[in-house]
Amino acid sequence: MTTLLATANPDTLASRVQEMIDAGRIGAARPLLAALRRMGSGSDHSKARIGGLSARLLAREGRLPEAGAALDDAIALLPEDGNLRKQRAELRLQCDDKIGAVSDAADAVIFDRTDVGAKALLGIVLIELGEYADAIACLTEAVSLQPQRSIFRQALAQAQECAGDRDAATGTLRAAIALAPSMAPLRTALMLLLVRSRDFPAVIEAGEAARHDGAADACGFGLLGHALSSLGRGSEAALSYREALKLAPEDPYVRHLVSASGALPAAERAPTDYLRTVFDGYAERFELHLVSLGYRVPGLFRAEYLAHPPVPPGPVLDLGCGTGLVGLVFADIAPGPITGIDVSTSMLEQSAAKELYSHLHEAELESFLDSNTQLWSLILAGDVFCYFGLLGDVLTRVALRLVPGGRCIFNVELSADTVQPGEPCQLGANARYHHAPWHVEQAAAQAGLTVRSIRREGLRTEGGESVPGLIVMLERG
Ligand SMILES: C[S@@+](CC[C@H](N)C(=O)[O-])C[C@H]1O[C@@H](n2cnc3c(N)ncnc32)[C@H](O)[C@@H]1O
Repeated sequence: MTTLLATANPDTLASRVQEMIDAGRIGAARPLLAALRRMGSGSDHSKARIGGLSARLLAREGRLPEAGAALDDAIALLPEDGNLRKQRAELRLQCDDKIGAVSDAADAVIFDRTDVGAKALLGIVLIELGEYADAIACLTEAVSLQPQRSIFRQALAQAQECAGDRDAATGTLRAAIALAPSMAPLRTALMLLLVRSRDFPAVIEAGEAARHDGAADACGFGLLGHALSSLGRGSEAALSYREALKLAPEDPYVRHLVSASGALPAAERAPTDYLRTVFDGYAERFELHLVSLGYRVPGLFRAEYLAHPPVPPGPVLDLGCGTGLVGLVFADIAPGPITGIDVSTSMLEQSAAKELYSHLHEAELESFLDSNTQLWSLILAGDVFCYFGLLGDVLTRVALRLVPGGRCIFNVELSADTVQPGEPCQLGANARYHHAPWHVEQAAAQAGLTVRSIRREGLRTEGGESVPGLIVMLERG
């Protein structure tokens, strides 16, 4: 730090502050910024530069509104500074102000038409706005002007995929990898794209190439494991998951996948961060994918509910409501308004668009049942308890929040070959728990709930085979 402070050149000091902030060395950056302030000439340029750096520091600390205010002040001093506009565009994007972000990015392009970074940023913001054709135009221009910048190519591939042109996106990423073979994020982006196309042999090929070139990160090994496991190559998948775990030992997503491969003892339930990562990334394709799998759970819940006398009138709680498919089939028969909860913001956004729920909350379901003391006539959990191991605790929480005569309908997955005889449940290779029927009954009894019905059904089809499960209806006496 002494060496850094020894410079009397404000430009050098400003670049040092920025380097420190970018490296996350906030504690070291703060006194340097204070020194820069003391050195400041008082000119608009000097004040605006200090404002921009303060905003960067505040944003790093998560103080986004204060960062926004600092940038507004800086831009008021230098309204035609493209760098400040780009910085505010990025900040606005972080704050989900997409319209503000696009306006700043467009201004940055107008102020300096040679600024390729501004063009690329405008493209990235346009992706967020859903303006894919314009985003592709901006990013194609940025790539043609600076072909070596792999980040521009990665963004272009994202825009192409969003526009529905997966082949173009794959080609863009392959070209980027050829130019920068050691960049692991490009390999991972390609593998993710191929996973979304469900082209598992191509994922494996891309993953093996990344491993060979020493360019696979934890996520890449996780995706390779996922593809191997999807093709029934369980022991190779386990090896790949182990590699992922070595690179990211604390990552909950990786840990859960590794547990599913049998290489780590299974946790009591899927970690919330894992669920959020999976379902945030899955939300837009979720319904299309489930339709292709012949997903039957919501319809089976409806049939089961209608086959019994109605519950007392009152509100309904949809645990892990996802995109709202359960809400959809209960909309005309529910005994009261439906509240949905889910850990995934993106899934909740899809639910909100259906306008069927009176309330939607982003929450982990056990925490919600602990903290929200409202009583419900009907609690539904469609394809959610497959993310829980033992069911006694969660059913006890459900029981405490049901009105007398209230019911809970849920499903579990069965898999004769994964749950060992005598075991209540087991984490399957598909990263979902499979339950033994006797455990479901035992957990219901532990929770003080009566089994009204328990029916074996096919839940969906995978690889041409029906996935067996139980549709369960419990009642509070
Ligand atoms: C397979 S989807 C099913 C969605 C919906 N119930 C349906 O049947 O279409 C599972 C949903 O449960 C959510 N979920 C899983 N575990 C959860 C938990 N512990 N708390 C809240 N939401 C959870 C996931 O985020 C995901 O949206």
